[in-house]
Order: sequence, then C-alpha cells, then structure tokens
Amino acid sequence: MSPIRVLVLNGPSLDQLGRREPELYGTATLDEILARLAAVAAALGVELSHTQSSHEGALIDAIHEARRAGVAGAVVNAAAYTHTSVALRDALLSAALPFVEVHLSNVWRREAFRHVSLLSDVAVGIVAGFGPASYELALRGLIEHLLGGASGSPEV
Ligand code: DQA
Repeated sequence: MSPIRVLVLNGPSLDQLGRREPELYGTATLDEILARLAAVAAALGVELSHTQSSHEGALIDAIHEARRAGVAGAVVNAAAYTHTSVALRDALLSAALPFVEVHLSNVWRREAFRHVSLLSDVAVGIVAGFGPASYELALRGLIEHLLGGASGSPEV
C-alpha cells in the first residue's frame, strides 16, 4: 500500500522562526519543527512534502500542484494570510484538499484581527497554541480524519 501523502504549507515569515518574536513563537526553527514532524510522519507511515513561502501566489501554486500530485491532505499554517486571504481559501476549496489549520500561538489570546480566520470554516479542524507540537497534533488529526476514524465535529 502506498503511503498517505500530506503537504505541510507554511506562510509568510515562518522561515524566520527561531529568531522571530520568540516570546510568541518559541525558539525552534522551521527546520527543527519539520524534523520533529518528520519523525511523527515516519511513525504514522505518512510521506510529507513541504512548502514555505511569504508569497501568496506561491502558496496557491503549491496547493494546486499537490492536488495534481495526488496529495491526500494538508497541514496549513498560513500565518498572516489566515486572516486576509480569500485567494488561499479559494485554492484550498478548489483543490478539495482536506486540511487542518495550524498556529503556533493561541491566536484567540491575541489581537482581535487574529480572531478572524478565512480558513477555519472550511478546515477539517484547528490546532493553535501548542508551539511546534501544534503541527504534530494537526498531522495526527488529519490522518485520523483521512482514515475515517474521527467521529468529526457535527455539521451545524
Ligand atoms: C501564526 C499566527 C498568525 O496570526 C501570525 O500572523 C503568524 C503566525 C501562528 O503560527 O501562531 O504569522 O499563524
């Protein structure tokens, strides 16, 4: 059986993790976060691909490419684009790519503009506030969803 393939998508300035506002985002670099995630993926038998970009169009291209490549789902930290990007939302819907929205920080404890997400209502689920572990929890939740094990949140 071929492994489940998952895209990890990271948006603007997440390449700066480690030195970017460490009081909010911690001291782990993106490479360190991805290495931790790769270990979880290996244990789950999941194949990861990764794109980080600070450019909206590059993130959108990566979503469409993932669909063409038969990727099954995505772990998405769209960073600031979470709060602004209709284009990213439309791309995820267009690709029909099940995804979990991820944030290192608990966005609901922060400024009001971060309480708005253009992705949450079309995401499988949301994980925020656990630092690097947010990605791992999101991956586990996504795989649970893809394998049909999750009871799922009720459609309201
Ligand atoms: C973030 C939260 C966003 O509000 C912010 O713009 C980011 C990072 C997080 O991971 O906590 O860039 O997505």
